Amino acid sequence: MKAKLEQIKVSALGEISADGADLEQLRIKYLGKKGELTAVLRGMGQLTPEERPVIGQLANDVRAVIEEALGRRTEEMKEKAMAARLLNEKLDVTMPARRPLVGHTHPLTLVQRDLEDIFIGMGFSIVEGPEVEYDYYNFQALNIPEDHPARDTQDTFYITDKILLRSQTSPVQARTMEAQKPPLRIISPGRVYRSDAIDATHSPLFHQLEGLVIDKGITMGDLKGTLDVFAKKEFGEDTRVRFRPHHFPFTEPSAEVDISCFACGGKGCKLCKGEGWIEILGAGMVHPHVLEMGGIDPSVYSGFAFGLGIERIAMLKYHIDDMRLLYENDVRFLGQF
Ligand code: PHE
Repeated sequence: MKAKLEQIKVSALGEISADGADLEQLRIKYLGKKGELTAVLRGMGQLTPEERPVIGQLANDVRAVIEEALGRRTEEMKEKAMAARLLNEKLDVTMPARRPLVGHTHPLTLVQRDLEDIFIGMGFSIVEGPEVEYDYYNFQALNIPEDHPARDTQDTFYITDKILLRSQTSPVQARTMEAQKPPLRIISPGRVYRSDAIDATHSPLFHQLEGLVIDKGITMGDLKGTLDVFAKKEFGEDTRVRFRPHHFPFTEPSAEVDISCFACGGKGCKLCKGEGWIEILGAGMVHPHVLEMGGIDPSVYSGFAFGLGIERIAMLKYHIDDMRLLYENDVRFLGQF
């Protein structure tokens, strides 16, 4: 029996240390309930009382040796597996990274920020107004009562009889007069809506930038000077400004304002359609009745206002010939700015 135990020990240790040994299988084979060591212990009944403790002790020693060998081998194999994994999953942190795709600022945003910078430089502050607006601010407070013909050219989308999508940024003039005391010097950029069919120069949604200055002694000369600085900063130092008489219900006198063509300098070219001048905005002196409705005394204060189309400036500046390009979000187009 002693020899048998000795032989079990030797063969177990041999198998455990062999390459690719299945340790669980070996544990069952030697130490399991039906294993070789257990079989030997079962036969202990046939031994003499003197032999029994000796063989028992020996069997326990053999079990301990095998268990210890199994444990050690299990550890060894775990370490080997980990080393192989580390080698396999090695990561080179010095490798160049994938370049992230960087977006572009939309041309309308570029122009809007440009304009804001120019007017902030002249002491204006930015005011925002709602796109869903009362008929009152969009029309009535601007001297456009119900049934006034000026409503035809600014047909828009109605939410109710009294609430609409604003057709211009001019309602911010009326709101600012109500909310603040003069002196006022504000611009207000934002979206406006008109029920126009979409084509190369029209869109039911576009952007304007409104300007309003009110103080004691403001004259048309201040309006001309302000727009002159704006035109030179936006279109180049050689740009000249021209006023043509016009009519807006909320300004008096009113003007349409042209700049000398920045492409040809005024000689006439494709961009200005041979005119030498390009129309860029509407402006005028705030109508006394509009001041009154805004709670400002027209015998004390006067002011000027202007409104320009941001799309129009962007299209001129970047030679964009179709307005729809500005809204389609084609990255091949947007990536050029
Ligand atoms: N709101 C006018 C328009 O949309 C432009 C304008 C603004 C004219 C301010 C005069 C003064 O046509």
